[in-house]
Amino acid sequence: MSSLPLGNDNDLDDTQFYNRVEEILFISDNLELTEKGSTPTILLTGIRGVGKTAMMKKLKKDFKEDYVVVYMDLAGMDKFKEDDKLTRSCFMRLFYECIIKACRESNIITIDAQILKYFKTRNFKLDRLESIDKIPLPILKSDEDYAKFTTFVMDLPQQIYDDCKDNISGVLIFIDEFQLLKQLDDNVNDFLWYIRSIIQSQKHIGYIFSGSMNVKDELIADIAGQKGAFGGRILSYEIKTFSFDTTRNYLAEKANYLKFTDDGFERFYKCTNGNPYYVNSFARLLPPNEELNEEKIISEFKKTLPYLLVNLTNEWYKLNNQEQRIIAALVEKPLKRIEIANKLGVTSGAIGASLKSLQNKTLIELDKDGFRIYDSIFKTWLKNEYGEKGDYPY
Ligand SMILES: Nc1ncnc2c1ncn2[C@@H]1O[C@H](COP(=O)(O)OP(=O)(O)OP(=O)(O)O)[C@@H](O)[C@H]1O
Ligand SMILES: [Mg+2]
Repeated sequence: MSSLPLGNDNDLDDTQFYNRVEEILFISDNLELTEKGSTPTILLTGIRGVGKTAMMKKLKKDFKEDYVVVYMDLAGMDKFKEDDKLTRSCFMRLFYECIIKACRESNIITIDAQILKYFKTRNFKLDRLESIDKIPLPILKSDEDYAKFTTFVMDLPQQIYDDCKDNISGVLIFIDEFQLLKQLDDNVNDFLWYIRSIIQSQKHIGYIFSGSMNVKDELIADIAGQKGAFGGRILSYEIKTFSFDTTRNYLAEKANYLKFTDDGFERFYKCTNGNPYYVNSFARLLPPNEELNEEKIISEFKKTLPYLLVNLTNEWYKLNNQEQRIIAALVEKPLKRIEIANKLGVTSGAIGASLKSLQNKTLIELDKDGFRIYDSIFKTWLKNEYGEKGDYPY
């Protein structure tokens, strides 16, 4: 019945991908500077579920006829972990894999044979070429090999452009879930400066960094702030939630079997905040061809909350006791670190690690009023649980 995309489907086809006309135009205009030899660098921000990934996948489709488009989701670094450590090396291996994949997907160039040539000219001491999904990967034996591999990978996009420039207008690199860099065991800021130093010398390569980051996030300051690694030369662009009218038109067009009354729709918008993830997920669960008035929406919302929040509640149940208690402490209002510590009956120093970990998972954020719960719908769920059961779901 429903033609609305699932809340976790971010590879939308043209009939599913709605609106975002201005956003696409603006970003595309900037990416196209790549063709002229520039190195546009864009920081795409926006809250969780607003449609950053969907947008990058759409851009990838739009650009792939003329460009090699590398899409890299940093969550993929996990599979390269060694001794449970997330290092720059995990980043490099993933980056390498994604570049090769992009070249293979591209129907404008072929570079497989060249890769081996690149390895040779770089003089790698190769133990053997190991293949992951048939992608040649050198075995790195020493730190020196690792350093060489890093330079090799970082230079690869430029190398590909230079070799294929008759066929392509440039190489575009989209790095998603960029906030996961915060989980690196190495110094993130050093790494950002390193990346910047490479990008600075490149031509015909364009970058988008994106992730669920709050504008006040310390990583954003490290990237785009005045003293940040890319300060002054990165374009920050925030994707906003759907407006009231956009949401209304969207559902009228794609789900006209939903019979909202005016106040029913107003309530729907309040419940979802126009966040496309919640709009799709909630709308898909509403009964078709039935009057949806305010009362009905309120009761449906209560009923479906656990489904809408399935990702976040999963994360909630994985938290340790202190982390859960910190979040519970923030349900009523934002609190300063010392206030949280007082509520928990511990010293301020004792909650440092938990606060950091919750911030890294984008469950809480810090602004001038203190720490707050990042997702307001998640906060509503906790409030409801408390209201119904007299305690939080520990
Ligand atoms: N332009 C769009 N038209 C219709 N639905 C959309 C659009 N953009 C996003 N959505 C819906 O919202 C969901 C979330 O989008 P997406 O995964 O791109 O968000 P995100 O900003 O990348 O979130 P996260 O920060 O969690 O990675 C999609 O699965 C899809 O259902
Ligand atoms: Mg995403």
